[in-house]
Amino acid sequence: MPTAEQLRMLVSNVVEPFTERPLGDLNMIRDTFVNGTDARVRIELPTPAYPDSKKLEALIRQRIQFAAPELQPRIEIQSTVRGKDTGGRIGLNIHNVIAVGSGKGGVGKSTVAAALACGLHSFGCRVGLMDADVYGPSIPHMMNADGRPGAQEVTDDQGNKMMRMEPIDANGVKLMSMGFFIEQGQSVVWRGPMLHKALTQFLKDTQWGELDYLIIDLPPGTGDVSLTLAQQVGLAGAVVVCTPQQVALLDAIKAVDMYQKVNVPILGFVENMTGEIFGRGGVQKVAQELKIPFLGEIPLNACIREYGDRGQMMQMLLEENPAREDLRRVCQNVAMQVFRELVKSPTGPVLEIL
Ligand SMILES: Nc1ncnc2c1ncn2[C@@H]1O[C@H](COP(=O)(O)OP(=O)(O)O)[C@@H](O)[C@H]1O
Ligand SMILES: [Mg+2]
Repeated sequence: MPTAEQLRMLVSNVVEPFTERPLGDLNMIRDTFVNGTDARVRIELPTPAYPDSKKLEALIRQRIQFAAPELQPRIEIQSTVRGKDTGGRIGLNIHNVIAVGSGKGGVGKSTVAAALACGLHSFGCRVGLMDADVYGPSIPHMMNADGRPGAQEVTDDQGNKMMRMEPIDANGVKLMSMGFFIEQGQSVVWRGPMLHKALTQFLKDTQWGELDYLIIDLPPGTGDVSLTLAQQVGLAGAVVVCTPQQVALLDAIKAVDMYQKVNVPILGFVENMTGEIFGRGGVQKVAQELKIPFLGEIPLNACIREYGDRGQMMQMLLEENPAREDLRRVCQNVAMQVFRELVKSPTGPVLEIL
């Protein structure tokens, strides 16, 4: 009969199917236990949005069955989101900050950002959503959130008192938007430097609490905002949203170039509005050429616009509809890509302040 340590060795060689690395290397074995033929393996998934835990469980079972057929293993699966925790630099307790960007407006960036936040929440992750698109904040409407965030006095580790803004709760997602501070019908004109300062300040001054993922909906085409975030907060990576049209693709390629220049890992491309009108597959092809992960396609479907218009993004991820499975898959792919980046370089990119 193998010992618990031998069982651990056995399981640590099982190859995790989505990163193609051994479980031992990925630090995914919490503990093992053997008592007679009774055995237990506890596995810790890197995210509740893990794509297929049944498949992983079957691989572990096979391995044990093959090497120690006398064992009756129980396989327990739990999950904990890990991250580079770079937000700690400005006092945030957020494991992964994910920027959603694009080269161009109108490609569905806010829709994807909100769907990511709602989808990851629906898998059981702790999620925040920050609307940084000060030119056209649309997240509050899509998430059916309004009102003005309250203020709360908090005390930091050194005993300093400070005021923090309370994010608005939207179906369990913590939401913050500059839109909450703008009167109806008013438009804002922010100059670059103001925008940088405001964004970091906004992030810092919000009482996010502990989050697994914070999704940031970036304003279109602004490289300097990404740079500021990368320097001051640290990003787990950026998701680039693109439609299959040629012009949108060219803009997306520019966005990729910009992220690479500022050392932000590109989590991948999402093809939005796939279908008869704009075409299909163009984004995946470009992703392959640029050696960038492809995170999935989202069909052009009126139901997506309708859920957004009604402020029901969370319902879109929960109810049966033609877009739900594609949206959930994008969420899973993003979460796994964040994990792959973490495995590749466990600490945040160090950027010199320019
Ligand atoms: N896949 C899709 N199918 C149908 N409508 C979509 C889709 N993605 C986005 N839309 C709609 O397109 C419009 C622009 O989307 P939005 O997310 O606001 O774009 P952006 O933030 O890039 O400007 C919205 O009305 C939205 O509901
Ligand atoms: Mg938008």
